[in-house]
Amino acid sequence: MPDGSTISAAASGQFSIGNITINRLGFGAMRVTGPGIWGPPANKAEALATLRRLPEIAVNFIDTADSYGPDVSEELISEALHPYKGLLIATKAGLIREGPDIWTPNGRPDYLLERAKGSLKKLRIDRIDLWQLHRIDTKVPRDEQFDAVKTLLDQGLIAHAGLSEVSVEDIKAARKVFPVATVQNRYNLVDRGSEDVLDYCEREGIGFIPWYPLAAGALARPGSILDRLAKKYEATPSQIALAWVLKRSPVMLPIPGTSKVKHLEENVAAASIALDDEDFAALDTAARQSGS
Ligand SMILES: NC(=O)c1ccc[n+]([C@@H]2O[C@H](COP(=O)([O-])OP(=O)(O)OC[C@H]3O[C@@H](n4cnc5c(N)ncnc54)[C@H](OP(=O)(O)O)[C@@H]3O)[C@@H](O)[C@H]2O)c1
Repeated sequence: MPDGSTISAAASGQFSIGNITINRLGFGAMRVTGPGIWGPPANKAEALATLRRLPEIAVNFIDTADSYGPDVSEELISEALHPYKGLLIATKAGLIREGPDIWTPNGRPDYLLERAKGSLKKLRIDRIDLWQLHRIDTKVPRDEQFDAVKTLLDQGLIAHAGLSEVSVEDIKAARKVFPVATVQNRYNLVDRGSEDVLDYCEREGIGFIPWYPLAAGALARPGSILDRLAKKYEATPSQIALAWVLKRSPVMLPIPGTSKVKHLEENVAAASIALDDEDFAALDTAARQSGS
């Protein structure tokens, strides 16, 4: 395991979104907020230190959303990292917050445009490198939401656009309206419901951003294969789960989230774990069996 001075997200490999090249292992900034992703973090100094540590360990891809806090995550990123030299800050909109752990889709085009402009202000930038439609709102025609994304691209307010929690069919429909740069769906070693979406993204060269990437479920129990491999690679079960996710596809851009420097360093150190093909396949089989 590398020590603090040699940890680098560059070891995860690179991916290009348009003309911006990022290290594949990124950071999810949802957790630098209060409980229920609501309000300020319990320890603001530690949250800021976590964000400031990112460029030092070559994490140059940061995922956030207008709804994290709401606003808190974007404002902290701005406080810690503006003017973001060499960093790609990806944000999203499409979910309204009415309280802790309450997330309500709102895909009305005027709302999406207004929230994207709000993100520009909070992040103190003229253009968002990657803006994602957080959810397709089933109460609003899908194409109207895609048209709003296209408007943001056409107006130059965003450079690239992505989707979140979508099917292959949704992606194909969106691509008729605007170029889809990335897709962000829940995916981890034991939650493989988006395999078809990942395969499609890989074929089409679309970045796939798995959220909740650290989960390993019951596979992390003592005596399990994950536990055994953690010992073999002198790592933690979470690090092995993350190394597995990274090896799964060259378009994979995981964004593990934390509010703590120590956890951040531990997660980024996983970029240096090179699972061999046999261990990768054995974990795959065990994870599929645990889910069946
Ligand atoms: N598109 C969507 O709908 C959607 C939904 C959810 C999340 N996301 C994005 O995906 C990112 C990641 O998702 P996630 O936060 O749900 O899952 P995650 O990154 O897999 O897990 C985060 C949780 O694990 C803990 N943790 C992180 N590193 C750890 C470590 N090394 N040791 C022990 N505990 C650790 C964190 O707590 P500590 O703070 O204590 O470390 C936090 O509770 C979010 O930040 C957000 O950007 C997107």
